[in-house]
Amino acid sequence: MSLSEQHAASLAAETVVVAAGRPPRERDQPVNPPIVLSSTYFGSGPLADGDRGYGRYSNPTWDPFEEALGQLEGADLPGLLYASGLAAVSSALSLIPAGGVLVMPTHSYSGSLVMAAELAQKGFLELRTVDIADTDAVKDALSPRGPAARAAAMLWLESPTNPMLGIADVRALTEAAHAVGAIVVTDNTFSTPLVQQPLLLGSDVVLHSVTKYLSGHSDVVLGALVTSNPDIRSALLHHRIIHGAIAGPFEAWLALRGLRTLALRIERSQASALVLAERLAAHPLVESVRFPGLPADPGHERAKTQMKGFGSIICIQVAPAGGLTGADAADQLVRALQLWLPATSLGGVESLIERRRRHTAEPASVPENLVRLSVGIENVEDLWADLKQALDAVGG
Ligand SMILES: Cc1ncc(COP(=O)(O)O)c(C=O)c1O
Repeated sequence: MSLSEQHAASLAAETVVVAAGRPPRERDQPVNPPIVLSSTYFGSGPLADGDRGYGRYSNPTWDPFEEALGQLEGADLPGLLYASGLAAVSSALSLIPAGGVLVMPTHSYSGSLVMAAELAQKGFLELRTVDIADTDAVKDALSPRGPAARAAAMLWLESPTNPMLGIADVRALTEAAHAVGAIVVTDNTFSTPLVQQPLLLGSDVVLHSVTKYLSGHSDVVLGALVTSNPDIRSALLHHRIIHGAIAGPFEAWLALRGLRTLALRIERSQASALVLAERLAAHPLVESVRFPGLPADPGHERAKTQMKGFGSIICIQVAPAGGLTGADAADQLVRALQLWLPATSLGGVESLIERRRRHTAEPASVPENLVRLSVGIENVEDLWADLKQALDAVGG
């Protein structure tokens, strides 16, 4: 590949997203890696380490994205691509020994929570959910408890959380988890490595729903894990091979193509999110705004110590209006928009909006009137004009 680990480490992330994962700088090489459509590879005799072997073990189209993501997260090793973010969650949870304790944020992404709760119901692990912004409560959940006095085997971090935007003290919690011998996995989907680098804050594994910002165009479903620990990476790779949740070559290629513009997309969407959060906070139909970039947000000071920016997800709670409950007013608000797209997901070039509790898997502690906004890269005044006309229409 064109960019060595050392060279990548000397470059700004905005350059790495463009330069990493290119074919060798040799005459007549393409500047973009090709898509390799093959389910198997020539070879005979015993397989050696590094042999491609078969399409479920490896594919050359995965390599450039995995290399680029590893370099962006500051890892010593390439990342691992998966068929989806949840496939990556499944592989990460496989690191917990049978019956081990998993500490997870009460407001993790609902799919991660459902998976962990189902594993717990079957007795494969013990699940302790906790408010991740409450550092003392997390430390308590990590420590030995119950008849077997078991400490945590894994701490799951998501910061900011989806959708409540709670901010964890990643450094302090990672230290506390390591003190009891737990592995730390951080879901970095909301921030991307351009905003937060959890491995450099002490986490052992970083997780991404590549579906979101990294690919950035709402046209692929993919996931990824990154670690600098060779033993953990081998265990994850083995799990991916045996459980088979691999990426399609075309999706992997699209993800790398999307990654090239990540820095520009993040710069624009973060700046717009701050403007919109401030204006939303001043509108009478908005009961409250959660956005770590607002000085009044409970996560603001902590976010400043570990993030370069505040991301581009905003959550609002909609006030009751014109005889409607807050939840009904929120539904009406979403329907009244003409530019924002009412759809689940986030992190694409287009701005998306949804009332979260319409999903049955969403924890009951997520308020009924909570609306999540994923700010895209459109003109900020156009985005505000659309929000304002819809807020005014519902607010009366
Ligand atoms: C924070 C977070 N983690 C993981 C996932 C799961 O990713 P995927 O939908 O790619 O399986 C999502 C999806 O919304 C998410 O928001």
